[in-house]
Amino acid sequence: MAQKLERLEKIMSRLGYGARRDVPHWIREGWLTVKGERPKSAAVKVYAADVELDGQPLDHPDGLTIIYHKPLGTVCSRKEEGRIIYEDFPERWLGRSPALSSVGRLDKDTSGLLIVTDDGQLNHYLTSPKHGISKTYAVTLDKPLTGTEVASFAAGTLMLEADDKPCLPAELSITGENTASLVLHEGRYHQVRRMFAAMGNHVTALERTHVGGLSLEALNLKQSEYQTVASETLKQMIV
Ligand code: URA
Repeated sequence: MAQKLERLEKIMSRLGYGARRDVPHWIREGWLTVKGERPKSAAVKVYAADVELDGQPLDHPDGLTIIYHKPLGTVCSRKEEGRIIYEDFPERWLGRSPALSSVGRLDKDTSGLLIVTDDGQLNHYLTSPKHGISKTYAVTLDKPLTGTEVASFAAGTLMLEADDKPCLPAELSITGENTASLVLHEGRYHQVRRMFAAMGNHVTALERTHVGGLSLEALNLKQSEYQTVASETLKQMIV
């Protein structure tokens, strides 16, 4: 996010520190400084990166992007029932504006690599079909693979129930009798589960292992762990 001049009270509220009306009190107490000086009013226009609270810089003042290992059993949207992924992050982050949002979704029974960001442009870049950023899944199946799945998924003709267009070609590598790695170049609702259902099989475990070139294993994040990253750095890690 480009730095811009903003009213101090707005910065403090949009970064989730509290209400605008609290800011004059923090100034009077001497808790807030701008470039080391006590500001004259809560309405003064400043850069968020120059503000300190209790001698500490503000938390990610110019945007927040997170590489996260989503655990099993959590949901990505408030519309779904269950523990929401945002509970794994500091509470203050939930008060931020623009709000954090996941880049696409993983379903409740899927774990793995998920990007969460307040950067709308980055979110669009990572999800736009134009960029076709691949996502790789480690899949465990109820029944042994037959081997016919590889050609069916690669053909670009597989129709999923209730969809009006076939899936884009996807690369399946069989890694065991009941296990495989699947690379997708699009993101449809419950796509991996539905692709295997179309082949008469059932997914019993699903993990997203890669987003583009970004690998969960290389990041060494346990379930629920995350790291923050600059948007531009993330793009370089993915592409
Ligand atoms: N495909 C699925 O079925 N579930 C996910 O969470 C992601 C891809």
